[in-house]
Amino acid sequence: MTTADNTATFPDHVPPELRWDHSLEAFNSELDDPFMAAARLLDGPPIFWARDALQGAPGWVIARHALLQEAFVDWEHFSSTPGPGLMKLLGIKLNPVNFDPPQHTAYRKLLTPLFTPKAINHMESAVRDTCDRLIADFADRGSCDFISDFAIPFPSYIFLALMGMPVEEAPKFFAWEQMMLRGETVEERIGAAKDVLAYLEGHLARQKTKPATPLMEAIVNGQLADRPLDDREMLGMFYTFYTGGLDTVYGTLGWSMRYIADRPGFQRFLRDNLDQLPRAVDELLRLFSVVCTQRRVTRDFTFHGVEMRKDDIVAMPIYVACRDPDAYPEPHEADLGRKTPMLAFASGPHLCLGMHLARREIRIAIESFLTRFENIHIPDGENYTYHAGPTFNVDSLPLAWSPTT
Ligand code: HEM
Repeated sequence: MTTADNTATFPDHVPPELRWDHSLEAFNSELDDPFMAAARLLDGPPIFWARDALQGAPGWVIARHALLQEAFVDWEHFSSTPGPGLMKLLGIKLNPVNFDPPQHTAYRKLLTPLFTPKAINHMESAVRDTCDRLIADFADRGSCDFISDFAIPFPSYIFLALMGMPVEEAPKFFAWEQMMLRGETVEERIGAAKDVLAYLEGHLARQKTKPATPLMEAIVNGQLADRPLDDREMLGMFYTFYTGGLDTVYGTLGWSMRYIADRPGFQRFLRDNLDQLPRAVDELLRLFSVVCTQRRVTRDFTFHGVEMRKDDIVAMPIYVACRDPDAYPEPHEADLGRKTPMLAFASGPHLCLGMHLARREIRIAIESFLTRFENIHIPDGENYTYHAGPTFNVDSLPLAWSPTT
């Protein structure tokens, strides 16, 4: 393994050949494209120990599709109970994300009925209206910044609608989100996370007297086998929807639209074959799998020849697994004929609860752009910017187009 310098200390159970004296985040930011940067890990060992695996914390990194898929299912060795991170500092457990079965199963059962494909069908017209309203604001201009004008506000408005929060709150949530993700200091990021928590506490108090949406009703009236949910459990659910459904959708939309804008042939194909969009959305989700999640090892054990110890942190960079040529031949290009299911929504007990909603949002957004605008492109001399933290996100994406004739 590369050892950039010898300043880091490594735990004794990590053999020298698996020690990587790097920050995963810095490594992913070394090229113009973080997915290509991260895919370089596929040339190294399938599992290794990074000095900084996740937000400054050292730990194992699993860098192959087959192994990551196995670890996602093996919750008895790879626990979702929290390792380091902002939520731990706030004393919040993301719910159901930070729990293992059987507790996880009990929480998840309360939420599942709200996110079935049928339930999402009921939300489709609201999602379309939100999309149409946002596009109407810039359609006549012939250009936009896809990220600030569309990709950030779109899932944020849908989050507000799910939660029964007034749309006027949107700018506050955008600002907190930006600060939590990109605040320059840890204090700024923690400050924003605390502001969100304070807001959610107020929202919970109001929802307990009069729940505004089916999701709020399911949470505030949620019953476990022997008791109702308590306030921390409900707040953990609120926080999950805030952290789970915004950044991920906005990230996937940003990278997908950049890909479409860069490839006129693919763009024309999609416009002429809108029935292929559901397949295309899944393939774009694979290509631009934006998440790196984490697990905690529950007891000493050996995983594919690697000795892991209780409480070791394990980074799960799904964006690496999704570019693994053993699972996806020619992994860096879209291929709508792939058979291997994509892993962007993880697998096992924590398979993304919001995946049907996410797919619908992304499909509606791409369809709306393709049917309204032709020749969507990045104007000459302009470029996109991005950051590669725990999720990969485009920060700005200038687009221009001609109206459809
Ligand atoms: C492109 C969009 C999305 C991606 C790539 C994505 C990805 C993921 C991944 C990888 C996980 C598993 C995390 C883990 O195992 O540690 C997850 C879980 C989850 N996601 Fe998503 N997600 C997306 C959109 C959404 C949306 C729109 C919502 C809700 C409105 C949502 C709600 C959740 C919830 C509640 C969980 C926790 C499930 C559990 O712990 O049982 N996600 N998501």
